[in-house]
Amino acid sequence: MSDATVFPVPEDLAQNAWVDEPRYLEMYQQSIEDPEAFWAEHGKRIHWFKPFTKVKDVNYGPGDVHIRWYEDGTTNVCYNAIDRHLPTKKDDTAIIWEGDDPSEHEYITYGQLHDNVSRFANAMKARGVKKGDRVTIYMPMIPEATYAMLACARIGAVHSVVFGGFSPDALAGRIQGCESNCVITADEGLRGGRKVPLKANTDKALESCPDVDTVFVVKRTGGDIDWNDKRDVWWDEACAAADKECPAEEMKAEDPLFILFTSGSTGKPKGVLHTTGGYLVYASMTHKYVFDYHDGDIYWCTADVGWITGHSYIVYGPLTNGATTLVFEGVPNYPTASRFWEVCDKHKVNIFYTAPTAIRALMREGLEAVKRTSRSTIRLLGTVGEPINPEAWMWYHQVVGEGRCQIVDTWWQTETGGILITPLPGATPLKPGSATRPFFGVKPLLVDNDGKPLEGATEGNLCISDSWPGQMRTLYGDHERFVQTYFSTYDGLYFTGDGCRRDEDGYYWITGRVDDVINVSGHRMGTAEVESALVAHAKVAESAVVGYPHDIKGQGIYAYVTLNAGEEPSDELRKELVTWVRKEIGPIATPDMLQWAPGLPKTRSGKIMRRILRKIAENDYGSLGDTSTLADPSVVDDLIENRMNK
Ligand code: WTA
Repeated sequence: MSDATVFPVPEDLAQNAWVDEPRYLEMYQQSIEDPEAFWAEHGKRIHWFKPFTKVKDVNYGPGDVHIRWYEDGTTNVCYNAIDRHLPTKKDDTAIIWEGDDPSEHEYITYGQLHDNVSRFANAMKARGVKKGDRVTIYMPMIPEATYAMLACARIGAVHSVVFGGFSPDALAGRIQGCESNCVITADEGLRGGRKVPLKANTDKALESCPDVDTVFVVKRTGGDIDWNDKRDVWWDEACAAADKECPAEEMKAEDPLFILFTSGSTGKPKGVLHTTGGYLVYASMTHKYVFDYHDGDIYWCTADVGWITGHSYIVYGPLTNGATTLVFEGVPNYPTASRFWEVCDKHKVNIFYTAPTAIRALMREGLEAVKRTSRSTIRLLGTVGEPINPEAWMWYHQVVGEGRCQIVDTWWQTETGGILITPLPGATPLKPGSATRPFFGVKPLLVDNDGKPLEGATEGNLCISDSWPGQMRTLYGDHERFVQTYFSTYDGLYFTGDGCRRDEDGYYWITGRVDDVINVSGHRMGTAEVESALVAHAKVAESAVVGYPHDIKGQGIYAYVTLNAGEEPSDELRKELVTWVRKEIGPIATPDMLQWAPGLPKTRSGKIMRRILRKIAENDYGSLGDTSTLADPSVVDDLIENRMNK
C-alpha cells in the first residue's frame, strides 16, 4: 500500500470475522455487477410476512425521481427487532441501560422489551394514535425512548425523534413540520448531573402546536411540572392500564418508518423520510458486518437516539440482529473523564462506537483517566460523525485500544440510513483518517464542479451513483425539495454535500462539507439556521455564519453580526446574542465567536461572499482570493482588523 502508515488486519481477526479481504472483494464485486441478485439474497435477512418478488425500482432522474425497494413485500420493523427473537432469546439481555449516575443501571431482556413495547403501543392506540400518524419523541436517553420508537413501529405510526437538547422553538418547528398530534417526553432529563426541563420545554412548544392532543410523560426525576389534564398522560399509568399483547401491524416495505429532521444548507431543517423494509435490511446488515457483530457480543454506541446514529445503530440495527445494545443516559466526562471506559469495564463491552469529538475531548484529559481502567473486553472501536484527524485516530488505537483493536471509521449521513463507506474489521487494512472503502452495493463517484466524473487518485465532490436499500425516500411533504437538494446538482447522481479524496489504493478520505452545512461536534448545523436565529433578535440587522477549525468540536461556529443603526456593540450584547441563539435553537448551536461587522462582504448583486468570511474566521488572510468583485472592498479590512482572538 502506498501510504506510510497502514495497519494490516490481524491474522486471527481475518479468520474469525464474517468476511476477510478476499470475501469482501468477491461480495463487493457481486453487489455491483448484479445488485438485484445481491439485494434479493440479502433482503431475506429480515422476516417478511409476505415475501417480496420485486427488489429494486429506482430512478435518480431525469424524470420522476423515486426510490423503492422490496416494494411488494410486507413486514414489521418491531416484529423483527423483538418478536422474532423470542423463541430463542426471551431471557437474553436486549438492552443494558446505564444511567447518568453511575449507581443506576438496568438490564432489559427481549421478553421484557416485548411486554414494555406492546403495552405502550396499546396505550398509544387507546389515545387514538393509528397507522400513518406522526408521533414526536422528545426524550432523554432512557429505555422508554427506545420503547416509544419501537411501539410506533409496531402499530405503524411514524416517529420523529427530536434531540432533547433542542429548544422549545426548535421542537415546535419539528412538530409542525410533520404535523404530529402526539408527543412523548419525560418530566426532566438528566445529563452530566444537570436537569433538562423537557416537559416545560414541551409545554412551551405546544403553545404554537394546537393540534397536539396527547402528551405522554415518563417520570424520570419526579421534578415539579405543570399538568394539563386533558392532554397530558403519565406513561406509567397508561401502560399499567394496557394489555401486554399488541399484534405487530403488517406494513408495506415502502410505508414510512420515521422522519428525522436534519440541517441543510438553506432554509428550515428537512424532514428526512425513511421507510420500512429496505431501511431495516440495510441497518441490520451494516451493523452485522461493519461491527462484525457475533451473538453474545455486548455492543455500545454512545450516540443519542435524537440522531440517525441512534436510530440505526442503537435501536434498529442491533435489535434486529438480536444483539445486546447499551443505552447510556450520560455524557463522556461525568462524573469523571474515565466514565466511558468505566462503563466498558462494568458491562464488559466488546464493541464501542463513538464520535471523534468525544475522542478529542477525552484525549485532552490525559492518559491517566484511560489507563486506570482495563478496557480488556473491547475488541473493536468505531467512529462516526465527522472526519477523524490522524492524531485522534492514533490515540484511540494506541491508548484506548492498546494497539489491539481495529478501528472502523464509518462515513454516512442521516439521508443514507446506514453506513456507506467504512472498513470491515476482518477485511480492510486501515489508514488513520480514512473511511477506506465502500460497503456492499455502494458506488461512490467523485465529480468536479461541472459534474465530470474523476478517475483514479483524485479529489472532488462525493456522489453515489446507484441506490442502496437504506437510502431516504423523500423529504416529508416536499418531494420537490428532495429532488432539488440531492439529485439536481449533478444529473442522475445522489450528491452527498461532502468533499472527498481518493488515493492510489482506492481509499476514500472525507474532507468535510462543501456546502453551507457545518459540523459542530459531529452535529450538523445549517449556517442559515443560526443566521435566522440571530436576525430574529430585535437589535440585529444582518448576520453571516461560517465554520472554522476547532480543536475539540472539529468545527466551531463563527458569527458575523451587523447591528441595526443606532445600536452599540458591547460585550454585554455579545453575551445576550449568544444566549439568544442557545434559546432559539439549543446549546449545540451556541456561537463560539461573535464578531461585530459594520458591513458584510457582498458582491454588487448583494450576495454575501462566504468564502472570504471563512478565510477570515480561519485566520487565513493570505489567500482571500479575488475581492475586486465586492461592492465595498473596505469592509474586508475592517473584518480582518477586528477578528476575534487574533
Ligand atoms: C459527516 C451522521 C467524515 C459528513 C451519521 C456527513 C463524516 C455528515 C463521517 C452527516 C466520517 C459523518 N468521516 N465525515 N466517518 N461520518 N460525517 O447526517 O460531513 O448527522 O455528510 O449523519 O457528517 O451527518 P449526519
